[in-house]
Amino acid sequence: MSSTSELEYDYVPTSNSWAAPGSASRTKVELVPYLRDILVPAADPTNDTTSRQPVVVLEVASGFGEHVAYFGQQLPSVVFQPSEAQDECVRGIAHTISSTNLDPRSNVNAPVKLNVLSPASSWRAALASGNVADPVTVILAINLLHISPFASTQALFDRGSQILPRHGKIITYGCFKRHDEFAGPGDVAFEKSLRDRDDRWGIRDLDGQVVPEASRHGFKLVKVYNLNSNNLLVVFEKQ
Ligand SMILES: C[S@@+](CC[C@H](N)C(=O)[O-])C[C@H]1O[C@@H](n2cnc3c(N)ncnc32)[C@H](O)[C@@H]1O
Repeated sequence: MSSTSELEYDYVPTSNSWAAPGSASRTKVELVPYLRDILVPAADPTNDTTSRQPVVVLEVASGFGEHVAYFGQQLPSVVFQPSEAQDECVRGIAHTISSTNLDPRSNVNAPVKLNVLSPASSWRAALASGNVADPVTVILAINLLHISPFASTQALFDRGSQILPRHGKIITYGCFKRHDEFAGPGDVAFEKSLRDRDDRWGIRDLDGQVVPEASRHGFKLVKVYNLNSNNLLVVFEKQ
């Protein structure tokens, strides 16, 4: 297990960390059927909903909230807690949620400020400030791993192992290398543009970097979905 002292607590993303506006409006639609498959339990033949633990998703690095607002509408039985490290984004998420006309009693909580590199105690404090009534069972990270230092990936699994219950999931979406190979020439060019912006960023190797890091923190790779533009939706489960 990586020691927490190796993690870069002082990295704070800036406005430069924001991806091209507009990509979320495409991916939010593409992701919903997969998230439904992963997050919404199959119909219970006994129809016994009383004993069922609600699915509570903490989204980290929510950007301006375009994904989470849409997921909240499309997956009404799932509770979402958006979060961001940047104040500008926290304000943006609140605006996106209110302009999506989500019911105030809806399943999407007000955003909280959370840097994934902060210690687990800060994650708990952020969740407490968001008034999530039930324990978080899933952590969702969309387009974070390649657009932040690798320490964010390490922190995601380290803090996830402390926050989530057994069988809790970490779901991440973005571009990855497989067995150290880029998915195509577009990703080679994308890698260069990432490194030019910040040399700590870069497309992670799912097999050689991310899975071993997950495993160090007790998470098993359970599913990889191949989506458009060579992007992957990857599901890890805490053992
Ligand atoms: C490319 S944007 C992705 C935003 C959104 N998830 C999307 O796909 O539209 C990357 C986001 O990661 C956030 N981020 C980077 N490092 C972070 C950290 N250590 N903790 C929390 N958020 C972070 C940035 O603030 C930025 O909003």
